[in-house]
Amino acid sequence: MNKNSLFGLIDKLAETHSLSEEEYSALIESRTPEAAGYAAGRAVAVRKSIYGNAVFVRGLIEISNICKNDCLYCGIRRSNSQAQRYRLTPDNILSCCDEGYRLGFRTFVLQGGEDGFFTDEVLERLISDIKKAHPDCAVTLSLGERSRESYKRLKDAGADRYLLRHETADGTHYARLHPKEMSFDNRINCLFTLKELGYQVGCGFMVGSPYQSPETLAKDLKFIETFKPDMCGIGPFVPHHATPFKDFASGTVELTCFLLSLIRLIYPPVLLPSTTALGTIDPLGREKGIQSGANVVMPNLSPVAVRKNYELYDNKICTDEESAQCRGCLERRMKSIGYEIVTDRGDVRK
Ligand code: 5AD
Ligand code: FES
Repeated sequence: MNKNSLFGLIDKLAETHSLSEEEYSALIESRTPEAAGYAAGRAVAVRKSIYGNAVFVRGLIEISNICKNDCLYCGIRRSNSQAQRYRLTPDNILSCCDEGYRLGFRTFVLQGGEDGFFTDEVLERLISDIKKAHPDCAVTLSLGERSRESYKRLKDAGADRYLLRHETADGTHYARLHPKEMSFDNRINCLFTLKELGYQVGCGFMVGSPYQSPETLAKDLKFIETFKPDMCGIGPFVPHHATPFKDFASGTVELTCFLLSLIRLIYPPVLLPSTTALGTIDPLGREKGIQSGANVVMPNLSPVAVRKNYELYDNKICTDEESAQCRGCLERRMKSIGYEIVTDRGDVRK
């Protein structure tokens, strides 16, 4: 593709918020550093028009690394017998929220593997206890696939948001990343159910996952264009040494940042985190993500004693730092590039 048509497609996307799948894959295949810089400039401009130079913070609490699933990319998959398994108690989790509140967090993200301990009853009580203690905070869940009834009960108990990465919008690709017991259709249905139930919903995918192609990425972008998620988590795939994908290469900062820019242009209000995985493959990865159009960071609030065990991929950062250090570190990092961390709930501005 020549330079004019490449820049022309970015302009078209910025103006109409839509391209065909063929156009998305051509854009990805033919991208150049200049085109990526141009897309980033337009993405930052549109984000500024909605959110100014605010970056929202979410306190991430990794509540359990016990998981019944066996996703081929994930370090906490059930067949990884080397993983040191842990589970926080509801009291532990509440203390993390209290500590987070003191540090200025107004959103808590409870993330974990699909651990049978966290039944609807346990979670209902936990969510309502968090809401009672901190009524001005949002509670975000990231606990995988559950039934409609379960999602409804958790919503009724006070949960505000739910993150469930779709992982890939191509069914064949999905089947290469997951064992056969896991169903692509069920994953996508969960996302629609969550939306119907009134959650603010986040989807997302890994960049550079094994067998990903410009065509599968084009489907991801088309899915985001039509689903219009409130949040969208994307970060590079990073191999974990004890998984079947240990010998695959990591995704790149460059492609992750380009996709962040495109997603911002596709759906300008989206809440887009600059992820820990991006900070893992490049010491300035999270800054680069923000400068490409992201507007959320998620410092770790998990107890330091368990941090290393929530090892989805190798060399994950922030495993030695106390919550306050992580918070301060990100604050400085954002300041250094001219952004201000804000401590309200940071709801989507649709
Ligand atoms: N590299 C990068 N991201 C990963 N995740 C799981 N394993 C890896 C990995 N090896 C992501 C998945 C999941 C989220 C919680 O973490 O996309 O949805
Ligand atoms: Fe965790 Fe820098 S963000 S130490």
